[in-house]
Amino acid sequence: MKSEESYSCFKKIWTDPLEAVAYKEARFSRSRRWRWTHKKEMETVIKFLGSTPETGPGLDVPCGAGRLLPCFERARRRWVGVDVSVAMAKLAMAAGKGCCVVADATALPFRRGVFAFAVCMRLLHRIPQQAIRLKILGELGRLCTGPMLLSYYARWNLRGIQRWVRGKYPGLSLKEIRGELKEAGLEIIQEIPLRRMTQQQWLIVVKAANSAPRPPVTTLTQDQQP
Ligand SMILES: C[S@@+](CC[C@H](N)C(=O)[O-])C[C@H]1O[C@@H](n2cnc3c(N)ncnc32)[C@H](O)[C@@H]1O
Repeated sequence: MKSEESYSCFKKIWTDPLEAVAYKEARFSRSRRWRWTHKKEMETVIKFLGSTPETGPGLDVPCGAGRLLPCFERARRRWVGVDVSVAMAKLAMAAGKGCCVVADATALPFRRGVFAFAVCMRLLHRIPQQAIRLKILGELGRLCTGPMLLSYYARWNLRGIQRWVRGKYPGLSLKEIRGELKEAGLEIIQEIPLRRMTQQQWLIVVKAANSAPRPPVTTLTQDQQP
């Protein structure tokens, strides 16, 4: 399968309501390794949320079936989920309190700077086309005034090499990931490998490189107006 096709298959599969339910019910409980991965990811998200500003809502894109929603509730952060799949978004809405929007991460229907922070978990590693990844990163940088937690798959570890040998898209090298984030105008604050040698999942906290606090919005009185 060509790498471009692998992303369109990935994007399409979750539009099937049965696949969406299977993701919610079984994806992370099917083996010890997946249960461990889920636990580690949740712990990392909760820790990240603890460091985020309470000044505005947080964006969870793609939100899938709302797996991270309990983390937001535990950290007392307002949650806005976005997913391209209606089936996934319905499950997310049923998972807890919050607002869920069906949209594509490359063109998010929100105003600049409306979110205080964002989480983008388990999407970028499925997209072999850099132009699409850069669009998504650009949208996150446009919308968020604060930190963002992103997940990538790093290539050079046991699982990455296994995928590469089997002809599957193996993710990026760390050098490529860092270069891409710089190109998208994002500055790395912290890198959190799930398990450096054996797991591909690499979580990265970033912020927009030009995200200096904006001056408060002031309203001009009539005699100050030009
Ligand atoms: C593996 S799930 C991850 C969901 C969630 N972040 C989690 O960690 O459980 C991937 C999700 O990405 C969504 N997705 C794929 N491409 C997308 C896009 N371009 N914009 C928004 N969502 C997308 C799919 O519908 C699916 O729900």
